[in-house]
Amino acid sequence: MNPFPYIEACFKRPASHTPVWIMRQAGRYMPQYQKVRGEVDFLTLCKTPDLATEVTLLPIDLIGVDAAILFSDILIPLEPMGISVTFEDKVGPILSAVRDEASIKALRTIEAGEDTGFVMEAIRMIRRELEGRVPLIGFSGSPFTLATYAVEGGTTKSFHNIKGLIYSRPELADYLMDLLADVVINYLNAQIDAGAQAVQIFDTWGGILAEPEYVRFSLKPVKKIVANLKRDGIPVIYYLNNGSYLAHHMEGLDVDAIGIDWRQDLRESRRTFGKQKAVQGNLDPTVLFASPEEIRRRAHSLMDEAGPETGHIFNLGHGILPQTPMENAIALVEAVHEYRP
Ligand code: CP3
Repeated sequence: MNPFPYIEACFKRPASHTPVWIMRQAGRYMPQYQKVRGEVDFLTLCKTPDLATEVTLLPIDLIGVDAAILFSDILIPLEPMGISVTFEDKVGPILSAVRDEASIKALRTIEAGEDTGFVMEAIRMIRRELEGRVPLIGFSGSPFTLATYAVEGGTTKSFHNIKGLIYSRPELADYLMDLLADVVINYLNAQIDAGAQAVQIFDTWGGILAEPEYVRFSLKPVKKIVANLKRDGIPVIYYLNNGSYLAHHMEGLDVDAIGIDWRQDLRESRRTFGKQKAVQGNLDPTVLFASPEEIRRRAHSLMDEAGPETGHIFNLGHGILPQTPMENAIALVEAVHEYRP
């Protein structure tokens, strides 16, 4: 069997072409996704393995990406910890906020195979349906990113509850991050056991912290996670949003690939931590609102920046936006695949 270009690139081995996938590739920009969502709410979709499978496969069949990513959400493992999670259209997630010592200490660790059995069932089903066409990526939020939702109780602009916890009760915040690290270890290892062929840790909000707080409350628990995953043959990717000022910490993080957002210079990343690790990224998602010609031009110029060395995985710098024309996502994948240096 031919090796998967995505897996080869993650391990910085030569690949037949630069692989491409798109963060949030199965989502609202697709009429086919909207159709499924018209019938069930988002959480039901996540918790129904055959529907999650159907949606996971859409971008493989319709966009031509080189990897599938499990259709789920980072907030799924918070529920069995004892936090209620709902999603409201046009609002986003709403959670029972845990802000004081009593509610944080009441949180439970999880047994992912049972507590989130529907995720593992979806992974097994997706692997069967993929029939080896592309590899399947499993994922989790980083402890700090999960904690922002758990402590804020939803999406926030100011982050004052989570940062307030960090500054007023640092030991309690340490406790929460360590508990979340254990949950993520259990959750990702269960995904690997079920058949995930790579795992990505999303640190969407690590980049809102000042550097010392990032190191203590985000990087440290991520280091604990990557030291405890069943990594044999399974690449581990760490995506850090808005983290240009933290790039010098990436070299010392034992993962196979680093995902970067569009504010970070790709050439510079390849020169620094890209010597030992693959780099994933980093087209600005709003480039997909330009013409197909401009998308192609910018994709190719980014690939020139990545250079000929092994270990570039093409992706956007953050999730694809719901308003994106689907034909432009297709044009992007075609542009990456037709690139010749
Ligand atoms: O990439 C994929 O296609 C896989 C599925 C996936 C989703 N969420 C589906 C989703 C993944 C990997 C995520 C991760 C996720 N979820 C992150 C980290 C990555 C990032 O984008 O920074 C975060 C922060 C979340 C939390 C989350 N989920 C929020 C804040 C929201 C509401 C805002 C929004 O975009 O709707 C979601 C909902 C969500 N997760 C949707 C999808 C397809 C939209 C749900 C819908 O159909 O209405």
